[in-house]
Amino acid sequence: MSDIQTLEREILAAISAARDEAALEAVRVAALGKKGAISELLKTLGGMSADERKEKGPTFNSLRDRIADALAARKAALADDALSAKLATERVDVTLPARPEPRGTIHPVSQVLDEMTAIFADLGFAIAEGPDVEYDDYNFTKLNIPPDHPARQMHDTFYVAPQADGSRHVLRTHTSPVQVRTMLSQKPPIRIISPGRTYRVDSDATHSAMFHQFEGLVIDEVTHLGNLKWVLEEFCKAFFEVDQVEIRARPSFFPFTEPSVEWDLRCDRSAPGKIVFGTGNDWLELAGSGMVHPRVLEMCGIDPEKYQGFAFGGGLDRLAMLKYGIPDIRPFFESDLRWLRHYGFAALDIPTLDGGLSR
Ligand code: DAH
Repeated sequence: MSDIQTLEREILAAISAARDEAALEAVRVAALGKKGAISELLKTLGGMSADERKEKGPTFNSLRDRIADALAARKAALADDALSAKLATERVDVTLPARPEPRGTIHPVSQVLDEMTAIFADLGFAIAEGPDVEYDDYNFTKLNIPPDHPARQMHDTFYVAPQADGSRHVLRTHTSPVQVRTMLSQKPPIRIISPGRTYRVDSDATHSAMFHQFEGLVIDEVTHLGNLKWVLEEFCKAFFEVDQVEIRARPSFFPFTEPSVEWDLRCDRSAPGKIVFGTGNDWLELAGSGMVHPRVLEMCGIDPEKYQGFAFGGGLDRLAMLKYGIPDIRPFFESDLRWLRHYGFAALDIPTLDGGLSR
């Protein structure tokens, strides 16, 4: 075997023996570097006769090319191996959740508000809203509670300083002014539900100065208390997630309804710390209601000769406390993270009737 062939074999063997890029680089320098074996070989061409150079030149050059090719191929193979090894150690588990668990929770009041919205939307009600700072006129007068009417004292009202024109604002004491706003701005038939914040000068274990109510209003040519009872029953079944409920009516008084009715829901509180709805010998206050007073319809621009309707309203926080077994209302609004994590709901579970209200 010629020296050249031996040299080529040795170099090729060293190339395939190189385990990493550094080792391969050492082989390259030893072969093709300035003082490398092949470079030295090429240098000898300068001292040759023209004929000899013609013969050896192509041999040396093709040797250099083969070695260069082998180096490049080995380099690529080593890079491939390195990448595969890296990928093997850095494997991503695609079954892991894409995002970390959300840490915030949905407040029970928001949860109940969403549940109520889903239920009433299914019954064909639209959501209506009104401002927290309300005209005295809408909060009271147009609801048939004129100034100096004793019923104003039933509401421990936060009054806002009088305006320049003498008109007065209050922090709304109930969601009923949304009835007024709706009747003033829409023509019957009307079917709305309005959950929202309300305020009264009152605070103990079951009352907070800021609390939440819901208000329902249905106005049409033929509506009666039987429709109202059905709506409340359907709501209770869906909301408390039971197949059967029983509600009872009690005569009552509200200035804005005639007749006025309060509704109670049958429940069982015999087991300590637990309420079961639909059976039992206890009754829970559910909502105030009645047929909208003709004077209210008139003051809100609706002809009481042609239209009539029912309204209902009650405490939203109370519903949350009952459904989710929360004993005290005050921590609802204290922003205590421990309480929020304990009573809060998963942020991504939106209540729907078909998907489940509270899961
Ligand atoms: N606004 C009443 C309250 O704050 C609740 C209420 C009673 C609303 C009767 C109504 C109703 O719409 O018809 O206690």
